[in-house]
Amino acid sequence: MSILLTGGAGFIGSHTAVEMINAGYDVIIADDLSNSSEKVIDRIEIITGVKPKFYKVDVSVKEDVRRIFEENNIEGVIHFAGYKCVPESTKVPLKYYRNNIDTTLTVLEVMEENDCNAFVFSSSATVYGDKNQVPFREDMPTGGTTNAYGSTKLMIENILKDVAAANSKFSAVLLRYFNPIGAHPSGLIGEAPDGIPNNLMPYITQTAIGIRECLNVFGTDYNTPDGTGVRDFIHVVDLAKGHVAAIKYATEHTGAEAINLGTGNGSSVLEVVHAFEKASGVKIPVVFKDRRPGDVEYSYACVDKAERLLNWKAQYDLNDMCRDSWNWQEKNPKGYE
Ligand code: UFG
Repeated sequence: MSILLTGGAGFIGSHTAVEMINAGYDVIIADDLSNSSEKVIDRIEIITGVKPKFYKVDVSVKEDVRRIFEENNIEGVIHFAGYKCVPESTKVPLKYYRNNIDTTLTVLEVMEENDCNAFVFSSSATVYGDKNQVPFREDMPTGGTTNAYGSTKLMIENILKDVAAANSKFSAVLLRYFNPIGAHPSGLIGEAPDGIPNNLMPYITQTAIGIRECLNVFGTDYNTPDGTGVRDFIHVVDLAKGHVAAIKYATEHTGAEAINLGTGNGSSVLEVVHAFEKASGVKIPVVFKDRRPGDVEYSYACVDKAERLLNWKAQYDLNDMCRDSWNWQEKNPKGYE
């Protein structure tokens, strides 16, 4: 069965490509390489022994997406393509709305033309906003997003629910990611942020390798055990396996389902720093700063629905995540450069 991965050369897309190939799927990657490297395609081949078919295209261009569907028998789409930098999205919101919504609409329109009805979407825990109590459950109200990036995720979830309501053959799984970190244990693929990382783990690994001087810890006065923010960190390989289960579910069911992909456990920023130091043997200098605007105190998932519907559960722990993040950083100090 051929599955199209838009944005399949990115951090989560590339790990999903590996797990999809391992599960026996034919993987087709469409990526404009705006925030990824073509080297990823070769690395996927080294890991799996299979080179995925690759199209360097912007999936908001309908003719290019049509060509992919004409040349392949695509039975489902996992849609990763999209801009994801939260602070940038607050500065140039139109860029985020235009790209993230356009790519989704174009892919959905071409799927409709081709009677392709299984769709998996990269949503985010950010859709829970700041009013809900942890653990976040899929039946809680969504909304209250604090940046354009998060708002595009929420808008696309709503678009997919409308499409599923109108087309009885259509199936959408809205995967609400918590905080993906780690890397493939081979150290061949991993997270390669462009410029200064916004997210915690790449900032930690870049500090450990000497690219950054010290880690800024944003907020020490949260109402959490050590005062720092708490997140549900999940190994990207576990997350990738969740997509394999989700596309299978989407091809066998109809309707729209939101499903959390997390571990169900919260770890504080300082707990992550200490776990990383233990796994790597490298001391991370930290500087305590004020809270970062838009951050919530606690975010972690209720994972019952993923277990029930997808028969999926995260396997890796925080120590595994830190070890694999560090292995990737050490083997690729400059990412894919
Ligand atoms: N943090 C630091 N220092 C840093 C970076 C982060 O202390 O240099 C802290 C943050 O303040 C927060 C925690 O580490 O408390 C996690 O921050 P990340 O930026 O790694 O992750 P977020 O939880 O802010 O964001 C993630 C995804 C978003 C998604 C969001 C919603 O990156 O895409 O979860 O849950 F929208």
